[in-house]
Amino acid sequence: EGPAKVTLVEVGPRDGLQNEKTPIALEHKLALIERLAACGLKVIEATAFVSPQWVPQMADHAEVMRALRGRRHPGVRHPVLVPNLKGLEAAFAAGVDEIAVFGAASETFSRKNINCGIAEALERFRPVVAQARAAGVRVRGYVSCVVGCPYEGPVAPEKVAEVAAALFEMGCEEISLGDTIGVGTPRQVIALLEAVAQRVPLERLAGHFHDTYGMAVANVYAAWRFGVATFDASVAGLGGCPYAKGASGNVATEELVYLFDGLGVETGVDLKALVETAWWVSGLLGREPASRVARALGGS
Ligand code: HMG
Ligand code: MG
Repeated sequence: EGPAKVTLVEVGPRDGLQNEKTPIALEHKLALIERLAACGLKVIEATAFVSPQWVPQMADHAEVMRALRGRRHPGVRHPVLVPNLKGLEAAFAAGVDEIAVFGAASETFSRKNINCGIAEALERFRPVVAQARAAGVRVRGYVSCVVGCPYEGPVAPEKVAEVAAALFEMGCEEISLGDTIGVGTPRQVIALLEAVAQRVPLERLAGHFHDTYGMAVANVYAAWRFGVATFDASVAGLGGCPYAKGASGNVATEELVYLFDGLGVETGVDLKALVETAWWVSGLLGREPASRVARALGGS
């Protein structure tokens, strides 16, 4: 059996919203973050200090962080994505206290996502991580395409382990392994963890599973049994584009809370409040929650 307690990293306000085509009001983003904190989530990824040309929905990153500074829930951390030194400068100016750099195990995906290859990305991250750490800012490192790449197909666990180790060795305190297109199944996830755990301590790993093929809960369960104790998830299963195969949302946070409640594993998250939040945010976006747990339990 796996760890008795897990940390859920809520990525809905960032990963969940980044693909939404219609601009979402700052007030709604802030209300979402506040509701998630009130549900008991202690890590809520808030935004991304990326180029507004690349991801228009995250263009209000500085406003989000400034507003959050004034109304923080005690003990809640708000990491933000930072791709380069320009992003770090803006993140510092907005008062962030935790960042995440994001690399990939696929060369083509890396170029499509951040306009440079894997090796160059790692060199870009090095001073970002060093400066953040020097300022007392915690750093997480993502690796995307840990099972498969939308452009290159299957990705070898050894390649993922190499990138994960590079991020860990440059100072990332936690490495989040992203099945970006949700193609993985538990056997692949275990092979991946076996390879990565040889280079990065298991307790520093997080699982980040998109649910494109409906395998995310199975993958989380497998990773938990392997010993992973941190999982990224998105309220209501937000994220992705309904028309783009290979780009659906993250596993829904309420599905993981339901899973772990059933396993007797502590998450610290109130399922009922979370399901209400899933319905609330889905209503804002004009749709029903993607998650079956939210639909089964209903909105109030
Ligand atoms: P680039 O065009 O190569 O950047 O983009 P550049 O350095 O050549 O600069 C070009 C322009 O962008 C300049 O502006 C810069 O100032 C500006 P101009 O002089 O032309 O007016 N710029 C910036 N503006 C704001 N913030 C910045 C920044 N940097 C440069 N930080 C760049 C490179 C990385 C910026 C771009 O490719 C980018 O923003 N990419 C972000 C893509 C992204 O956010 N993807 C989604 C998140 S990753 C993800 O979802 C996966 C994950 O969930 C895990 C998983 O599921 O696998 C994490
Ligand atoms: Mg993601």
